[in-house]
Amino acid sequence: MTDTLHLRNRWYVAGLSEEITDKPVASRLLDEPLVLFRAPSTGKVSALEDRCVHRQAPLSLGEIVGDNLQCGYHGLEYDCSGACVRVPSQKQIPPGASIRSYPCIEQQGFIHVWMGDPALSSTVDPYDFPFASQSRVAGPLRTFTRSVR
Ligand code: FES
Repeated sequence: MTDTLHLRNRWYVAGLSEEITDKPVASRLLDEPLVLFRAPSTGKVSALEDRCVHRQAPLSLGEIVGDNLQCGYHGLEYDCSGACVRVPSQKQIPPGASIRSYPCIEQQGFIHVWMGDPALSSTVDPYDFPFASQSRVAGPLRTFTRSVR
């Protein structure tokens, strides 16, 4: 158990900034499906569990509506915290209708996601790629992150 927590309580690169635009993007870390999406009004990237609370449809197949992520199956909408904020055809949101969200930081062109205890995410900084801004090495770094998936 301790070994598992050790692996979870760290930042992982889940995607590239340039690929998180106007559509949700599927990623996978530690064998868990994630969806990354960018809120248009703030530009902030969020990482959520890629599984709708309703019938488990992958949210990465949905759409961004306002600043929320809409499931492509029946239209439930989630905010960046993973809370369900809209259910089509009914006014009331069922209690507990939410999915897991993961701390997420965009830095140096990479989307870093914290897979462990969210309370510990502020105790560690994402890895700093010292040469990431130099175009000569940015290519190989980005190729590496793709193969981590
Ligand atoms: S499976 Fe997502 S709204 Fe039904």
